[in-house]
Amino acid sequence: MKMILPTLLAFACSAWAADPKTIAYGKYLVEEVGKCQDCHTPRLENGQLDTEKWLKGAVLDFAPLHTVKDWHKTSPDITASSRLWSKWGEATFLKFMQTGLTPKGTPAAPPMPAYKLNAKDAEAMLEYLKSLK
Ligand code: HEC
Repeated sequence: MKMILPTLLAFACSAWAADPKTIAYGKYLVEEVGKCQDCHTPRLENGQLDTEKWLKGAVLDFAPLHTVKDWHKTSPDITASSRLWSKWGEATFLKFMQTGLTPKGTPAAPPMPAYKLNAKDAEAMLEYLKSLK
């Protein structure tokens, strides 16, 4: 019985503030494994990624050599302040990162890859993206 209150408190706190270690792990997954910034961050004239607009959506700087159906030449803002979050919500994002499927039940348009992450990694990515303004 004595254990219930601390457990509840710990749970409530974890819901309010993401663990910095989870955010750091999510940043690593986004930046070093998924390389999301390669498509979701705009570039400066010198070709470097614009760190002021990190993951804020971009016009891609590459195109396929042959016709690809539904090719999107822009990528959306995936930071916490984006319209995507108000439209999708967290559960939809988590499902998308684990199945590669959007709420319509189809993959996102190319060249967005279909990631099939485990739940822990999808949640860490979510916490990192939520930490970006
Ligand atoms: C090779 C380029 C590329 C990479 C790498 C990439 N994306 Fe995308 N992403 C896109 C494009 C282009 C779209 C727009 C496709 C669409 O609207 O269907 C998109 C769309 C999305 C969407 C919205 C999907 C929808 O249907 O509205 C989310 C969420 C997303 N990306 C998250 C990520 C995350 C998280 C990563 C890294 C783990 C990532 N993307 C890596 C190109 C990319």
